[in-house]
Amino acid sequence: MKMAEPVPLHKPVPGFDVYRLREDFPILRQRVHGKPLVYLDNAATSQKPLAVIEAEDRYYREYNSNIHRGVHTLSQQATDAYEQARAKAARFLNARSPKEIVFVRGATEAINLVAAAFGRARVKEGDEIVLTAMEHHSNIVPWQMLCEQTGARLRVASINDDGELLFEEYKKLIGPRTKMVAVVHVSNALGSINPVKEIVRYAREREVPVLVDGAQAVPHVKVDVQDLDCDFYVFSGHKIYGPTGSGVLYGREALLKAMPPYQGGGDMILTVSFEKTTYNELPYKFEAGTPNIAGGIGLGAALDYVTAAGLDAIAAHEHELLAYATAAVSEVSGLRLIGTAKEKASILSFVMEGVHPHDIGTILDHEGVAIRTGHHCAMPVMDRFHVPATARASFALYNTKEDVDALMAAVRTAKEVFGV
Ligand code: ALA
Repeated sequence: MKMAEPVPLHKPVPGFDVYRLREDFPILRQRVHGKPLVYLDNAATSQKPLAVIEAEDRYYREYNSNIHRGVHTLSQQATDAYEQARAKAARFLNARSPKEIVFVRGATEAINLVAAAFGRARVKEGDEIVLTAMEHHSNIVPWQMLCEQTGARLRVASINDDGELLFEEYKKLIGPRTKMVAVVHVSNALGSINPVKEIVRYAREREVPVLVDGAQAVPHVKVDVQDLDCDFYVFSGHKIYGPTGSGVLYGREALLKAMPPYQGGGDMILTVSFEKTTYNELPYKFEAGTPNIAGGIGLGAALDYVTAAGLDAIAAHEHELLAYATAAVSEVSGLRLIGTAKEKASILSFVMEGVHPHDIGTILDHEGVAIRTGHHCAMPVMDRFHVPATARASFALYNTKEDVDALMAAVRTAKEVFGV
C-alpha cells in the first residue's frame, strides 16, 4: 500500500534562504548519538549565530572593561558598545527612547522588577491583578508574591480547549479593583498568540496598566510597543539568538520615572551619603551593579541579526513549518496536540497515548532530535489540559522541513519502541 505523502511545505518564503542562514549557526553542524542534530528546543533557548558569538568574543578579547565609570579608552569603548546595544533594543521594539530600555537578566527579572518596584508602590489590600491561565511561572509567581505582601489577589482568565483566551470572560475580570494586568504575548507551552493589542486597549481605557511578557513572542512576531500601547514589555535575550543572562524591560518613561528603584548599589545612584541617596536618571536607576556587559552587547548583535533576516520573513517561514508539522502529527495515530489555537507561533506541543513525554524525549534524543518534555514552567496549563507534561517541539528561523521529517520519523520510532 502506498504511504500517504506528507503535506508539502507549500510556500517557501521568497528571499528567505534557510539553508544559507543555518551556516551562521556552527552548533547545528554536529551529530548527537551519531545522528545529525535536529534542534527543536528553541522555546527553551535558541542557538547563537556567529555574529553574536563574535560580538561577545571581541568584547572580551579587545575592550573588556567596566562601563559608565572609566575615563580610559577601553571603558569608553565598552560604554559605547553597551549603549549602542540599548539603542538597538529601543529601535527593535520601537520605544520612544533608549531611556525606556532597562537591561535585565531576562524576562523573569524584568517581571520581578515591575512587580516589586511598580507593584509594591501601587497595589494595596483588596486590589486585584489579572493574569491568564496560560502564563509561564515567571508571570505568575512574582505577582503571587506581591499579593502575599500586600493582601491583593490574583484573578485568572480562562482559556478554551484550543488554548485560546476567552476574551469576553477576560474583560469581565477587569474592574475597579484591578491594579495591574499581566499577560503573555505568545504562550511557551501552547504557542497561542494572545490579542495583546485589544487587551491593552481594553485595560488602558479603564486606566489599568498592562505588562506584556514577550519572551516567546519577539523571536517570532514583530513587536511595536508604541502601537501596542502597553506600559511594560519584557523579553529574554537567549530566546532571540542572544546570550543567556541578557534581556530587556521596556517601560513607559513616565512610569519608570515615578517608580522607586528595584535594587540598590553602584551605577543606580547620583549621590550617596549615610543620610540620603539620590538616584540616577533613567534607565540607570534600575541597573544596580556591574551588568552583563558582554551579554548586552551580544544581545544587540542578535537583534541586528534578526532584523537583517527580517521578522516578517522569519514569521512566514516558521508559520509554514508549523502548518507542515501540525498536518504531519495529525497523520500519526495516538498523538494529540495540546494547543490548537487559530493564532499560533512556533510551538508544537503533543502527547502520545500510553507513553510519558520524558520517554518520548529520550528516544528522540537517541535519534538526534532535541525537544523539551515536561510542564514547560507552565503547570496551570498542564492542569487545564489534564496532562502531567507534554512533548514540545519548538521552531526557530533555522529549522527546515527536513527537521520536521526527522522529528516525525523519530516519533514513529518511539511508537514502535513502546508498542503503541
Ligand atoms: N521558559 C522556557 C521554556 O519554555 C525555559 O522552555
